[in-house]
Amino acid sequence: MIKRTILITAGPTQEPLDPVRYLTNHSSGKMGYAIARAALLQGCRVILISGPVALSPPAGVRCIHVQTARQMLASVLKYYKKANIIFKVAAVADYTPQKSSGQKIKKTKKRLSLLLVKTPDILATLGQRKKAGQILVGFAAETQNILKNAQKKLRQKNCDWMIVNNVAKKGIGFGADDNQVSLIGKNGENIRLAKMSKAHLAQKILKIILPRGQHS
Ligand code: PMT
Repeated sequence: MIKRTILITAGPTQEPLDPVRYLTNHSSGKMGYAIARAALLQGCRVILISGPVALSPPAGVRCIHVQTARQMLASVLKYYKKANIIFKVAAVADYTPQKSSGQKIKKTKKRLSLLLVKTPDILATLGQRKKAGQILVGFAAETQNILKNAQKKLRQKNCDWMIVNNVAKKGIGFGADDNQVSLIGKNGENIRLAKMSKAHLAQKILKIILPRGQHS
């Protein structure tokens, strides 16, 4: 059987303001790394593109470390053609400072305004460039209108699946060891999984999605 290649992005991005400060979010990388580990156990070839996290990549994974959304996009564009299935688990910063200061910003002003500009949408870019047979799986971090927002992202970013979690709930989502997700498929699937460890959840997610990517 031909080994399938799974590309996973994980963790946050960091958008520098100056040499000592950056904008980021609470992603720990646990969810993405759990999918990487589960995919390895399924005999897949795994490429992991990771933002800055405190985790070690599982042995056997090809891991590329990046810091910013732009670097993550460049790395994803370098590897995505090799992938049969892509999991975009990373919490990519939506905005980045328009200008990153070369020197530490001094505490001289009473007020300081930051001008932010949109980062490239990596998942939407992949949705536009999707190869025939490639399966594109996004993750949606929502706090309200969970399913409606996830369905909108699924369509807008041309994904095959959107895996949605409620990141306002305690004990799941960002940083937690557990998660609770629903898998929304482009063919109308809506599969709600119970709360469980991210390790266990990663196996369940692959059990649902891998067979659908069999012929890619
Ligand atoms: O890392 P953990 O601590 O284990 O937490 C896991 C998690 C909560 C980060 C994960 O389960 C999760 O929800 N990941 C998606 C986070 C996110 O950025 O969601 P979003 O709804 O803002 O974005 C939707 C999708 O677009 C995501 O697949 C994201 O990778 C992608 N995106 C967003 C912005 C952007 N500029 N480029 C992107 O590719």
